[in-house]
Amino acid sequence: MDALKNSAVHYDDKVVRQFSIMAVVWGVIGMAVGVLVAAQLAWPELNFGVPWLSFGRLRPLHTNAVIFAFGGSALFATSYYVVQRTCQTGLFMPKLASLTFWCWQLVIVGAVISLPMGYTQGKEYAELEWPIDLLILVTWVSYAIVFFGTIGIRKVKHIYVANWFFGAYIIAIALLHIFNNISMPAGLMKSYSAYAGVQDAMIQWWYGHNAVGFLLTAGFLGMMYYFIPKQAGRPVYSYRLSIVHFWALIFTYMWAGPHHLHYTALPDWTQSVGMVFSIILLAPSWGGMINGVMTLSGAWHKLRDDPILRFLIVALSFYGMSTFEGPMMAIKTVNALSHYTDWTIGHVHSGALGWVGLITMGSLYYLIPRLFGKDKMYSVPAIELHFWMATIGIVLYIAAMWIAGVMQGLMWRAVNPDGTLTYTFVESVKATYPFYVIRVVGGLLYLGGMLVMAWNTWMTAINGRSVKVLIPAVNPSHA
Ligand code: HEM
Ligand code: HEM
Repeated sequence: MDALKNSAVHYDDKVVRQFSIMAVVWGVIGMAVGVLVAAQLAWPELNFGVPWLSFGRLRPLHTNAVIFAFGGSALFATSYYVVQRTCQTGLFMPKLASLTFWCWQLVIVGAVISLPMGYTQGKEYAELEWPIDLLILVTWVSYAIVFFGTIGIRKVKHIYVANWFFGAYIIAIALLHIFNNISMPAGLMKSYSAYAGVQDAMIQWWYGHNAVGFLLTAGFLGMMYYFIPKQAGRPVYSYRLSIVHFWALIFTYMWAGPHHLHYTALPDWTQSVGMVFSIILLAPSWGGMINGVMTLSGAWHKLRDDPILRFLIVALSFYGMSTFEGPMMAIKTVNALSHYTDWTIGHVHSGALGWVGLITMGSLYYLIPRLFGKDKMYSVPAIELHFWMATIGIVLYIAAMWIAGVMQGLMWRAVNPDGTLTYTFVESVKATYPFYVIRVVGGLLYLGGMLVMAWNTWMTAINGRSVKVLIPAVNPSHA
């Protein structure tokens, strides 16, 4: 389609195709490990007494696989696709782009091997040891060269807003990765952090929160700003709002990290700064959500029979929900109840399954047929089925965790008139059991949906209908 506008432009889509396929593959694997760890929490016998199958080792494998392998591959794929279309040019240094694909897969294989073996830096979402960290650095610098190089050789003057979000995510992740991982190697798979005590904690949660802000949010907002207008066939609702959204979001996120360290040894004023910036963060987050949803003005009827659009719009609803919940949980008095409980896990997965998962799936459903020269996915009813399995799975997962979380918080703080605790800890664990089982059911549904997607992708690649009629689409950069 885009080729119609400028038939002389050659797009490098091989690397986009490779990353898209691997996003689906890693999605299935990462979510399957998620279901296993969820089942281990309900039935600890599933640890099998084998160290490398234990919860403590598989949990980081799950988080690394879903965030960096599934989410990361999807971000590479979409950013490479979008930057070419909106700049009307092929990739800058396509061979380097290909190198980023192989290096990133190597990083993931390194994680899949080293994490179950128990090698870890002990920093959440930055568990990987220093040799793998160096490989990440090489990949990321190459990624930045390809992405910004492509912007540099663009054929249009304007830089479309999706590229601003992708660009910010690439720069911020480089910064976070470098500073949080500064350490002293003490062997091939062992190192000591350059920071100690509370400084270490502060740097770690500056990293952790901004990994959420820039990888799990800004990058996926880049997807939103391209794929929603494309799929809806309408320009972005307000281009001006998207610019305000961009600057407000990236300025505010950087300061909110201390909300992960409420009531710790971190100075109290720092915690308050984190809390205040978290509350402010509600405004740009909702501004962006409204901008995405309102892009559908005048085209709401499309939601009725376009399951891809439904994935994209429901993703935004979950984005709105988790960015309302997050600022509330950042208020110290609320955090006193929610921290350490499954409420946090519920919040994480309303963002992860609802926002990150659904926006990725919707964008990949848009991309995959185009990457294989087909006019649509092999089975549209299968997309519909996936949508409902995913949505019901999310609702079961997060509702169970909210109830479990609030219950745990209330049980832990309940005291008798004589000041002793009303409940023992193990009583709260016992009370949580049914909710853990409900989560396993929700997780299985969500994983089942992902398997349907993998099947549909495979069938599209091997025998979907080829494109016969080329219809020019609305280019969001003309908004
Ligand atoms: C089938 C789907 C999934 C299931 C069943 C699942 C299950 C789990 C479980 C059981 C945990 C550990 C909770 C605990 O320690 O108490 C967890 C943690 C986590 N998962 Fe998932 N997950 C799924 C999908 C995803 C996806 C798609 C993402 C991200 C895109 C994700 C991101 C995370 C994160 C960030 C954590 C750590 C949360 C924290 O430390 O607070 N998960 N998941
Ligand atoms: C305005 C936006 C947001 C704010 C202010 C916010 C705030 C918070 C707060 C207060 C916590 C609990 C910290 C604790 O008690 O330990 C938390 C945890 C978390 N949030 Fe959010 N959140 C936001 C959006 C999101 C989104 C959209 C996602 C996912 C895509 C997300 C992913 C996470 C993760 C992974 C954790 C768990 C970190 C950990 O302990 O391992 N958040 N967030």
